[in-house]
Amino acid sequence: MQTQIDSRAAKLPLVLGGHSFIEQLGNDPAIGPEEAVALVSHCLDRGIAWFDTTYMPERVALGAALADLDRRDEATILAWNFFQEFGPGENVGEPAAYGDADLDRLCEELKTDHVDLLVVHPVEDPLEQRRQEELASSWVASGRVAELGAWAPPLDLFGRFEDVPYSWVIAPFNPFTRRAHEVFEAARALGAKTMATSPFGRGWDLERLAAASGVPMRSAVAQISDLMLRFSLFDSGVDRLVVSMRRLEWVTANAASVAKGPLSPREHRRLADLLRISQS
Ligand SMILES: NC(=O)c1ccc[n+]([C@@H]2O[C@H](COP(=O)([O-])OP(=O)(O)OC[C@H]3O[C@@H](n4cnc5c(N)ncnc54)[C@H](OP(=O)(O)O)[C@@H]3O)[C@@H](O)[C@H]2O)c1
Repeated sequence: MQTQIDSRAAKLPLVLGGHSFIEQLGNDPAIGPEEAVALVSHCLDRGIAWFDTTYMPERVALGAALADLDRRDEATILAWNFFQEFGPGENVGEPAAYGDADLDRLCEELKTDHVDLLVVHPVEDPLEQRRQEELASSWVASGRVAELGAWAPPLDLFGRFEDVPYSWVIAPFNPFTRRAHEVFEAARALGAKTMATSPFGRGWDLERLAAASGVPMRSAVAQISDLMLRFSLFDSGVDRLVVSMRRLEWVTANAASVAKGPLSPREHRRLADLLRISQS
C-alpha cells in the first residue's frame, strides 16, 4: 500500500483513458483482453504510466492487464464512482455516491490494494455529496487512497477544497470545450493539480475537423490529432491529459505529439481556421 502517488514510471504527461477498454464512446471497435495487455504494456514501455478507469468494465480490464503483466507497481490508477456493469451496446450508467464497501469493490475489480487517485464525480443530492466526500476523505486518511480528484467543479465550489483534501481537478478541455481553462487556473491558485480529458471529444470532434479540412481523411486525422492533442496538453492551465487510444499506433503518434511541445502561433491559427470552417 502506498499513501502518495509515485510517478517515477511516468515520463509522459499522458494518461490512458479508460474508454480505451470499452466499445462505447469511441470510434474503433472494442479491444479484447489480449489487446488490452498489449496496449497497457505499450503505454508503460513508452512512459505512459497513468491509467484512468471511469467505468466498472474498464477497472476489470485494466486490473486484469496489469496483473497479467505483473506491472501494477509501475502504474498510477484513477478510479471513479461509476459502478454499473455493462457490455457492448448497453447503457454505461450514471455516477452514484461512494458507499462504505465501494473502495474494497474498486480494489477487487482493479486487483490492487489501493487507488492512487480517486475521482469524486458529484451527485445531485447535497447530503449524499457531503457524505461521499467525508467517506473519500477518510479513505485518504487511511492510506488506501493516495489523492482525491474533483470532476469538473464549478468555479464557485472552491470553498469545498477547504474541507475536502482534493489535490486534483479533472475536466474536459479541447478546442470545442474550453470552459475548464478558468477552473484549472483557479485550482492551481489553490495548490491543486489539473487534468484535462478528451482532447479529441471522443474522436468525434477530431473526425468533424478532419472532414471539414479538405485534406484526404487519413492525413487530415494525422495532422489534426497532433494539433488538438497539443492544444489541450500545452494549455497554460493543464498538468496532465487523459486520452483514450484503442490502437497501439495512436500511442506512438500521441507520444510523438507530446515531444513536439506547444503549438506555434501558426499552428494555433490553423486550428482556429479549421474550427471556423467546421462550424460554418
Ligand atoms: N469527457 C468526459 O466526459 C469524460 C468523463 C470521464 C472520464 N473521461 C476520461 O477521459 C478519457 C478521454 O476522453 P474520451 O475518450 O471521451 O475522448 P478523447 O480521448 O478525446 O478521444 C478518444 C478517441 O480519439 C481517438 N484517437 C486517439 N488518439 C488518436 C490519434 N492519434 N489519431 C486518431 N484518433 C485518435 C480514439 O480512437 P480509437 O477509438 O481508435 O481508440 C478514440 O476514439 C476517457 O477515456 C476517460 O478516461 C472523460
